[in-house]
Amino acid sequence: MRGMILVAIASVLLFPSCQRSDAVEAGGVLYLRYADNQPEDYPTSKAGRYFASLVDDMTGGRVVIDVYAGGTLGDEPSVLEQMRYGGIDFARCSLGILSDFYPDLAFMTLPFLYDDTEHMWRVLDSEIGDELLTVTQDSSVFGLAWFDAGARSFYTRNPVYSLADMEGLRIRVQETDLMTEIFELLNVVPVKIPYGDVYSALQKLMVDGAENNFPSYYHTGHYETAKYVFLDEHLMLPEMLMMSVSAKEKLDEFDPDLYPVIVECARQSGLYERVLWAEEEKRAKEACLESGCVIYYPSDEEKDEFRKAMAPIYEEFSEYGEIIERIRSM
Ligand code: GCU
Repeated sequence: MRGMILVAIASVLLFPSCQRSDAVEAGGVLYLRYADNQPEDYPTSKAGRYFASLVDDMTGGRVVIDVYAGGTLGDEPSVLEQMRYGGIDFARCSLGILSDFYPDLAFMTLPFLYDDTEHMWRVLDSEIGDELLTVTQDSSVFGLAWFDAGARSFYTRNPVYSLADMEGLRIRVQETDLMTEIFELLNVVPVKIPYGDVYSALQKLMVDGAENNFPSYYHTGHYETAKYVFLDEHLMLPEMLMMSVSAKEKLDEFDPDLYPVIVECARQSGLYERVLWAEEEKRAKEACLESGCVIYYPSDEEKDEFRKAMAPIYEEFSEYGEIIERIRSM
């Protein structure tokens, strides 16, 4: 498959071998750093390495991207800060955190925005998705591609069967005010905790549960302490592969023709991630069940209780009413 992709990229792009920069003539190699807070064997990290290998191949080894997985370069808010100052060149980041830095993306994090994965991809693959990739570029990063991150549901130490059961539970949320506000609508006590610290927060009983997708739930080991899943799928938060403005400047200086190559490699790695994601979602769910997790599938009525409780948050996004309508009708 990779061979075909490379041929496809080569056929659409003019490989800029005849326009080598001075650095290249002098044998220069541009080294860039890529951050992901997921472990090495997670779909997004694998797709990050795939991206790096495509870039390596397509630039004849002149641009080398080192992928740092497992949050070794920091949690997502810190990675975004570092991208602003040029310390990190690429990152894959959840829209939940990203929208705190780029408020024009925040409407994309509204609960129950999409009906299902197919709906989400219809939107992201359309001109809306392309436009949204450009929202961040005036400030500090260029959005290059979308990654799948499935749907998020609650998981708790004790079983939850309805909205009423959620009342008063301390639930870990992503570290933004908007997430706090959204989850307060369910009468839970939202607790902002960085992703990498949730495992110990669950172990130390600082929270009663959290919410995430199956691959995250499984790979983090959260399922060990919070084994009851309430599969309401309240949020779908796709993820963005981004390049910092300063990395783009470095790249343009190195060879002004390379940016389209990077963009195409990112798009290809996004497609690759979707395939990995679908497989991993199934595998992680099965592995959790084998380890003794219990999944409760709420009925449409039970899910509706959550939808209705969270609906008031849409009022804060009235200026995005038109685009939300377009998305809803796709
Ligand atoms: C998902 C996502 C991460 C994010 C995490 C979170 O796992 O892939 O990038 O940090 O959710 O809940 O914070």
